[in-house]
Amino acid sequence: MMKENISIVILAAGKGSRMKSNKAKVLHSISGKPMLYHIIKESLKISDDITVVVAHQKEAVIKEISSYFDNINFVTQDANKFPGTGGAMMNVEPKNDKVLVLNGDMPLITAEALHGFLEIQADVIMSIFDLENPDGYGRVIIRNDRVEYIVEQKDADEAELNTTTVNAGIYAFSKVILERYIPELSNDNAQKEYYLTDVVAMVKEEEGTVVPILVDEEHFKGVNSKKDLADSEVIMQRRIRNRWMQAGVTMQLPETIYIEEGVAFEGECIVENGCRITGNSHIINSHIKAGSVVEDSIMKNSDCGPMAHLRPLSNIENTHIGNFVEVKKATLKGVKAGHLSYLGDAEIDEGTNIGAGTITCNYDGINKYKTIIGKNVFIGSDSQLVAPLTIEDDVMIAAGTTVTSGTVEKGSLALSRTKLKTIKNFYYKFFGKK
Ligand code: UD1
Ligand code: MG
Repeated sequence: MMKENISIVILAAGKGSRMKSNKAKVLHSISGKPMLYHIIKESLKISDDITVVVAHQKEAVIKEISSYFDNINFVTQDANKFPGTGGAMMNVEPKNDKVLVLNGDMPLITAEALHGFLEIQADVIMSIFDLENPDGYGRVIIRNDRVEYIVEQKDADEAELNTTTVNAGIYAFSKVILERYIPELSNDNAQKEYYLTDVVAMVKEEEGTVVPILVDEEHFKGVNSKKDLADSEVIMQRRIRNRWMQAGVTMQLPETIYIEEGVAFEGECIVENGCRITGNSHIINSHIKAGSVVEDSIMKNSDCGPMAHLRPLSNIENTHIGNFVEVKKATLKGVKAGHLSYLGDAEIDEGTNIGAGTITCNYDGINKYKTIIGKNVFIGSDSQLVAPLTIEDDVMIAAGTTVTSGTVEKGSLALSRTKLKTIKNFYYKFFGKK
């Protein structure tokens, strides 16, 4: 998409009290990234002049967003003196003559969906949609096919409340209009706030042009509550899954699969029902079986699950991870770990078999230590590998062994067991004969 001669202002300074949370609303996450991240990502496809207005939890918002993008202008709203979406516009200085204003709580917006705002020329272009349940939105009052004004829910009378045409919260203004009317806003309303939406009536009053664009909730839904957040997540997840299925990923019961924004697939991949794949996971020619969780990990030519857990920074290649195996910060190349194991802070090399119930004891209560296992090692079932530990190539660890030696030399057998004792007929002495 071509970058346009348009500036974009994203309003992200509000408290978001309806979220009932200490976290700034725009930082609540959709598919693993803050709502504001999604909006900025799409905005950057249209413009290089992006301003984000901050106030509430300003430092946290700036810090988080700066970790993803480095070319954003942050402007602080004087939210005590001038609260509200109009107050948010008071300190912005857009570079271009046309200014697109986006609410920061609209994570589903896409650059394509904003196309109409770039095409049309008017004093104000605004977004509207019709909703069966308009609750929470500002109502748009239209007479003779013309927008007259926007009234906020809290200020609306009964007739206005029954209006199902609502303000979606995206506008394109000419800069001249903003410079003229923003300083004239008043806070004479139920919330004692300066409403950006009042500019519409002011422009109308002086015979300016206000053009409404009918938009869809699928892209323009606002998030004010945890319920809205969950509903938006459903839409975003559907998009992410569809994108990957189009790219060739096989998904069984896709509606039950959660995939975050930063995940990438390559080659032939299968994801079974009920899986969760997060962070910057990179899945190449692999099969993730039912109920598995893969977090910020790399899988190449491998399979895991059902019910496996790859925790952050796991890197598995040509490897089989079976059910109830947890892997954390471990690199496994050409390994089989079929059942019930914990493999953390480890490096395990080709041809090695990890028996059921094997545990890397990586933590002594204060520090974490590494386990390094060489090639063609056979770890018997129910072994505890106490780190720091190096097991060299061609080693056998007998079932039930606790390895504490620090190093097991190439070619050896390690075995720690108490000698088995059997007492004849003990069972009958203890329980009596039936
Ligand atoms: C706003 C609109 C409403 C519209 C709805 C669409 C106004 C007055 N109302 O209502 O007509 O139907 O969006 O979703 O604009 N913000 C600031 N500073 C503030 C207050 C808010 O930057 O002082 C930011 C918020 O962080 C948020 C956005 O502006 O990202 C919208 O604020 P919010 O409180 O959610 O407005 P709504 O009540 O949803
Ligand atoms: Mg809102």
